Amino acid sequence: MENEVKLAAGTMVTFAIAVSALVILPYIQVRDVKPPEGLKPYTSAELRGRSVYIANGCVYCHSQQPRSESFAPDAKRGWGRASVPGDYVYDKPHLLGSMRTGPDLMNIGVRQPSKDWHLGHLYQPRAYVPGSIMPSYPYLFEIKDKAEPGEEALNLPPGTAPAGKVVVARPEMLDLVKYLLSLKREYPVLSPEPHEAAGAKTPSAPPAGKPASAS
Ligand code: HEC
Repeated sequence: MENEVKLAAGTMVTFAIAVSALVILPYIQVRDVKPPEGLKPYTSAELRGRSVYIANGCVYCHSQQPRSESFAPDAKRGWGRASVPGDYVYDKPHLLGSMRTGPDLMNIGVRQPSKDWHLGHLYQPRAYVPGSIMPSYPYLFEIKDKAEPGEEALNLPPGTAPAGKVVVARPEMLDLVKYLLSLKREYPVLSPEPHEAAGAKTPSAPPAGKPASAS
């Protein structure tokens, strides 16, 4: 019996240590995070777009967590500075992602501010990036003879739309693009990163203007 008691006690102690390290301590670290001044809450259209992003599995190929320079050259790729907990205060559920089949999208609104580009790229990625392996999303568009009042035909590269037809984005697609354009974390981070505080030389991130390549 003595051994069983030791085994049970050992199991409970191990479990308690794991829960503290993986659940309780991280919760204490981030529970009081305030929204940064430069970060706006999502509008209702952007939130609808966020659910289209979730429903279509964009998160399976795109992360939203640029890493610090010591981990990856994300800033050099134009994906923005390393993210901090405050960047995610309005993200429920968070969409950090773990796969990077495509580029990180945390700052896509800075890097690619053109609504036309996004609509066209989501209609047919290969018309913009030859050889792209990103899926197209034709069911979020409608093909028509001409755009009706209040609708806007997509401004596509020649030869992309079916001959003699126009392509019009469905409302879900317009919301999705509003969400993508809202992804901007350009405001400065308040608390410096530990290695900056220690006086180490940290080159500043390049402006997030240049297009990034997938890797
Ligand atoms: C199968 C993986 C995959 C899925 C799913 C996917 N993408 Fe992509 N995405 C890529 C790849 C690869 C690229 C890079 C090539 C390109 O631009 O087409 C990319 C590029 C992009 C870019 C341009 C990024 C830049 O830095 O230029 C945007 C924006 C984007 N994807 C949005 C989306 C959205 C929104 C969805 C969901 C509706 C989605 N992607 C789903 C793989 C994927």
